[in-house]
Parts: sequence; C-alpha cells; structure tokens
Amino acid sequence: MTAKIIDGRTIAASLRDEIAARTARLSYRPVLVVVLVGQNPASSIYVRNKGRAAAAAGIDSRTLALPESTTEAELIAIVEGLNADPAVDGILVQLPLPPDVRNSAVIEAIDPAKDVDGFHPLNVGRLVDGLPSLAPCTPRGVMKLLDAAAIPISGARAVVLGRSAIVGKPMASLLLGADATVTIAHSRTRNLDAECRRADILVAAVGRPELVRRDWIAPGATVIDVGINRLPNGQLAGDVAFAECAEVAGAITPVPGGVGPMTIACLLENTLEAAAARRAR
Ligand code: GUN
Repeated sequence: MTAKIIDGRTIAASLRDEIAARTARLSYRPVLVVVLVGQNPASSIYVRNKGRAAAAAGIDSRTLALPESTTEAELIAIVEGLNADPAVDGILVQLPLPPDVRNSAVIEAIDPAKDVDGFHPLNVGRLVDGLPSLAPCTPRGVMKLLDAAAIPISGARAVVLGRSAIVGKPMASLLLGADATVTIAHSRTRNLDAECRRADILVAAVGRPELVRRDWIAPGATVIDVGINRLPNGQLAGDVAFAECAEVAGAITPVPGGVGPMTIACLLENTLEAAAARRAR
C-alpha cells in the first residue's frame, strides 16, 4: 500500500488561523517572551520563526537576546523579573543553554503558569497525572496531527521511540491519556525493530537519521517522524527512511513539513491558553 501523507504544513496553517481568530476576539494581545542565550545558529532560526508566527497570530512576541557569557544566576534573575511582570503571559527559554548553566535550575525558576514549553516539573507532573496543564509543544502537535488525520488512538498500540523530556516522555503521557497502550523504546531496548513492528502508531524521536526502516513498520501503521537531522550533504532527514516506509505504512509524516510546523503552532496555542488562564484569575 502507499501511505497517506499527513501534511503538517496545512494542518498547522489552519491551527494558526484558528488561533489568530481567537486572539482577534480578545481585549488584549497575549505577550510571549523568548529568552535566547548565545548564538546557537539553529536556536536563532527557531526563535526568528517563532517570532514571525506569533506576530501573524496576533501574539506580541519579544526576544531577549543575552550573551553566551550569561551566568545561571543572571538568567534566573531575568526569569524572575519576567515572572513578576504582569504584562508577560508566556516565557520560553530556548534550549540548549551554555554548558555552565543548568537547564533544570532555569526551568524550575519559570512561573508554571507562564511555562509555555510545559517543561516545569509542576506541569510535567500534572501532565502525567492527566490534569489540565501546559503540555510540551511538539508532542501536543503530534496529537493534533493524529486527530486531523482521524487516526484512532483509544486501544491502539503506540510505540514512542525516544525518551527525552522534550518529546518522548510527554508524548507517552499524552498517548496514554488518550487511552493508547504505550511502549517507550530507546537506545537500550532489545529487538528495537520488533518493538516498532508491533505499533499501530509509531512516533520516532531519537535524532538518528533514517534509523527506522521499511521492515520496522507494520502494514497500515501510522508513522510520525519527529526527527530533524542534517545529513553531511546538507539535506534534512527524519528518523524514518521516508520513501521505503511510505510503501508499508497507512499514514506517515514527511520531514520537513510534518511535525515541525505543528510545534510552533502549539506554542502559540499554549501562549493563548496561558494568557487566558492567568488573566481570568
Ligand atoms: N530547543 C529545541 N526544542 C525546544 C523547545 O521545544 N523548547 C525550547 N525552549 N527549546 C528548544
């Protein structure tokens, strides 16, 4: 069979339109502050794209660009200032941070009500408990792709390949919350290919170019590729060997144009929801 292509660009565009329509009805403009430390080129591109998408959706996004020499204490003091600023609805500290700054110390300093990344332990815990929370943007985007493609989740066997705090673990929590039977597989998993072959829904988020091959996919399965890997020839590749897996899968996301556009759209939605919840208090 030939897989249906799940078109993240189109699905994200309609989500952004929906968010723009919601912000247009508000009596205020939600404010997102993105904190960027240093000059990581990939981070700079992400942050620029976030800013553009926010503006188009009626969200006021400001970037605080700090020098690579910023210390942990200085960064925490800046975050605390943003926490205390009533004009700020969402705070996103772009990762990675410089080597001497602990991610955990900075993330724990963010007011959980403004934590639009959903990385604060309080939001992580609420997500695991199945309570309303700000959930990480990429896994949220994957859930929206599954919904838009009308993929049944309840009772389905879902395999999440990768156990990162940004994608794998929250992805597993969201799928479990939607009543999937969830396996988290990773680099130490025995018979990784056989585990993946059991999946009705396979979410690959390991950062290994084209690790997932045709014979890892059950016929008709849904394959979601979160990987964005730069090959030595400069081309982008996902964690899934797209062409060969598309011959077996029932539905599959491309790279680029699959999960990537959804992440930013979900950041905008988290910012809108953080603003609405905070301003209603
Ligand atoms: N770096 C790569 N992905 C992300 C993300 O989703 N949020 C933040 N803050 N940094 C990132």
